[in-house]
Amino acid sequence: MIYENAHIIGFLNKDEVILEVGIKMKGVFDQKSWIVVSKELEKESLKLASYDNVLIPLLGNLKGKKILDYGAGPGVLALAMKKLGAKVKVYDISPDMLRKAGAKIGNENVYEDIKDVPEDYFDFVICNLVLCIVNDKEVENIAKNIKKALKNEGVVYIGFCNPKICDVKESQLDFRFNNEKYEKNHVYKKIKKEGRYEILEWHRPIDWYKKVYKKAGLKLIKEIFTPEYTLNKVKINDFIIFELKDEK
Ligand SMILES: C[S@@+](CC[C@H](N)C(=O)[O-])C[C@H]1O[C@@H](n2cnc3c(N)ncnc32)[C@H](O)[C@@H]1O
Repeated sequence: MIYENAHIIGFLNKDEVILEVGIKMKGVFDQKSWIVVSKELEKESLKLASYDNVLIPLLGNLKGKKILDYGAGPGVLALAMKKLGAKVKVYDISPDMLRKAGAKIGNENVYEDIKDVPEDYFDFVICNLVLCIVNDKEVENIAKNIKKALKNEGVVYIGFCNPKICDVKESQLDFRFNNEKYEKNHVYKKIKKEGRYEILEWHRPIDWYKKVYKKAGLKLIKEIFTPEYTLNKVKINDFIIFELKDEK
């Protein structure tokens, strides 16, 4: 039988899958299309709990701190940091996302063009779940842009899905369709459980990212992983967050 709009949304075991039939699933297949799922992103409470709630305490007292949220999406985290007293600015490749973020934190806090972002200025530059959706060349560009925006003693936090779990088929956040090796840069498909949408994501080994940061003039201070839990007898940390500083 041929089903219309049939999607694999889970695994029963290594030979049997769970299909969802007859429901058109939203999908994000390139870096410029994230606006399609902006409403879903705004409602992601599990991601918030596992990622944002680990990142925010790392920043310490935010009163008066100048923060750039690079690839801010609809501005959920930007707003949370503003409420904690930070002076938050956002940049995103998508004008629609910037409109959404601007509605939350003020249009005067939005950079529509990367050339408008001031150099040597921010106490913190954060970049969440962006490097994993852009190609190798763009990862290098973003790392350089972040370095330029950071002031001398500033700190960078860059986070995305933990590459070490690339062989995991299911996490609390998603179903993952990946048969490639850890060492190889490659794209794979995920279905997000919250919001039920498909995305294509880049996997790259952690050492690859470290080389890019170094080339951009950023020194690795720490690798932080979000808290471990067990699912299907597998130990999982969903995200990695790199803490970086200017390499002087
Ligand atoms: C998965 S969302 C993450 C949003 C937000 N940082 C968060 O943690 O929820 C990815 C965001 O990166 C933006 N983006 C994609 N490519 C980009 C690029 N090259 N430069 C800046 N932003 C980019 C997308 O428009 C989207 O808003």
